[in-house]
Amino acid sequence: PIQNADVDPHDRQGFAHFMLKEIYEQPDVVRQCLAAYLKPGWDSDQDASLSSNPFNLALPDELFATVSEIQLVACGTSRHASLVAQYWFEQLAGIPTRVRSASEFVSAPFPLARNTLTIAVTQSGETADTLAAIAAAKRRSSPAESSLQSWLLGITNQSESSLTKAVDYTLPTLAGTEVGVAATKTFMAQLVVFCCLALEFAFRRQALSPQQLAPTIAALRSLPDQIETTLQHQHEPIQTIAQTFANVKDCIVLGRGINHAIALEGALKLKETTYIHAEGYAGGEFMHGPIALLDATVPVIAIAPAGSVYDSMLANTEKAKANGAPLIGITTVTEPADRTVFAHPLTVPAIDELLSPFLTVVPLQLLAYTIAVQRGLDVDRPRNITKTLTR
Ligand code: G6P
Repeated sequence: PIQNADVDPHDRQGFAHFMLKEIYEQPDVVRQCLAAYLKPGWDSDQDASLSSNPFNLALPDELFATVSEIQLVACGTSRHASLVAQYWFEQLAGIPTRVRSASEFVSAPFPLARNTLTIAVTQSGETADTLAAIAAAKRRSSPAESSLQSWLLGITNQSESSLTKAVDYTLPTLAGTEVGVAATKTFMAQLVVFCCLALEFAFRRQALSPQQLAPTIAALRSLPDQIETTLQHQHEPIQTIAQTFANVKDCIVLGRGINHAIALEGALKLKETTYIHAEGYAGGEFMHGPIALLDATVPVIAIAPAGSVYDSMLANTEKAKANGAPLIGITTVTEPADRTVFAHPLTVPAIDELLSPFLTVVPLQLLAYTIAVQRGLDVDRPRNITKTLTR
């Protein structure tokens, strides 16, 4: 159990590094978050309860009823979780949503609209830039400054932190202590919390009917097993890929739609732990200039799960291949192998495209970890960065 007080979070429990242990804890982290935020039995007792609210987020009814716009402020990995969430809030619940780096928000805040929900996301609860952004948002929405109603919500892994003191409401991510500096399981937990929040908005605003919601909730409940399967199946192929590419200088990660954010997160994991110059791009945008970077020394990792953007991702990767780049593909098992162009395929279980970030991020975390170990680096304590950036 993740929160069991008897388990010392500073014991690696047989894993070579905390980062690996924390990657492998992700199925339990998802179970723990779903147990907290989803009511048990909702989807198995269809007739009796389908019209009741399946979520347990304990936020006021008025918030769900009145919010007209969402703004998300965060840094690093927490910003990438926010970018995934932006997709969910907009595409599932139909709420206009913007994301800005906390450090940029302070000097250039979004124009304030009536009934804005500001969400600050930080695993540590102490990141100075994020606290400064929430303070700026608070000043602007205080009664003296504005008659516009607004809400401040924090998403954090530290239930007693500077963030929780600064916001009106907190949704804890329940990932347990994360020791590795590069965030993995806290990112996964942020995704679960965001997904439940977006789905509750969608349910309450009737953007999704209970009948539409039911398969999504069932899919959420399948995630822990699917992450476990991903971990089991990827371990070996990733060792081979890591050996092949351990000494590259540059690497490109491509994703489209909701997986653009995962491309950014995969590139950040590679930068933080391996010091490879990795950049994440939206597949389409990559064609407009950055493709000039490619040659046989620059591997391209394409996140291409089955779904609406699969064919366009394949078209992007075919162009990359024509420029000599070695191709690593993160695809779903449903795609027939003969359709792929990937010399190094990594498959994840079949999943709805909207939920695919929960699975596509896992091989990227493992790959970053494995390459860092092969390079002989201090994977749990990379140079120049800290777990909590307080100034
Ligand atoms: C630092 C770390 C990043 C992390 C970011 C945000 O910059 O190097 O890995 O994602 O802080 O951390 P937070 O605690 O606010 O989520």
